[in-house]
Amino acid sequence: MEIRIDNLDNIREAARQFIAAIGESTVIAFYGKMGAGKTTFIKAVCEELGVDDVITSPTFAIVNEYRSDSTGELIYHFDFYRIKKLDEVYDMGYEDYFYSGALCFIEWPELIEELLPGDALKVTIAEAEDGTRTVTC
Ligand SMILES: Nc1ncnc2c1ncn2[C@@H]1O[C@H](COP(=O)(O)OP(=O)(O)O)[C@@H](O)[C@H]1O
Ligand SMILES: [Mg+2]
Repeated sequence: MEIRIDNLDNIREAARQFIAAIGESTVIAFYGKMGAGKTTFIKAVCEELGVDDVITSPTFAIVNEYRSDSTGELIYHFDFYRIKKLDEVYDMGYEDYFYSGALCFIEWPELIEELLPGDALKVTIAEAEDGTRTVTC
């Protein structure tokens, strides 16, 4: 499906539509260029899921852990942009996250493509010339 985000004012509504669309998927890979809006959209989705303390800047470690205050469930947010070798991903114990059953939102999944579970949901975010974003999944 395709979800359009005309501007930041309707990103929460877009996040709600997205949550309704992901179904049973837990590992969700977000493709898209630098600046496309991956971090911003993941943040909106996490907020919509009840997380109060979403980290806005992805200059964090490879993975950030959030907890939904409404459900108590953990959500993991990965940014693999700085990964140089897959060994770094093995060393962080990625399987414990990807196969935990918890929601895992992944930025720069192309850098760890071969480690993505077969049932990972692939999502693309693109920015149009007018600044509109389209989320396709
Ligand atoms: N849907 C949107 N509408 C308008 N601006 C957006 C939207 N999504 C992101 N932005 C802006 O674009 C910039 C890059 O967003 P970011 O989420 O960091 O991109 P990415 O994580 O894909 O590199 C930020 O300044 C952000 O505020
Ligand atoms: Mg980002």
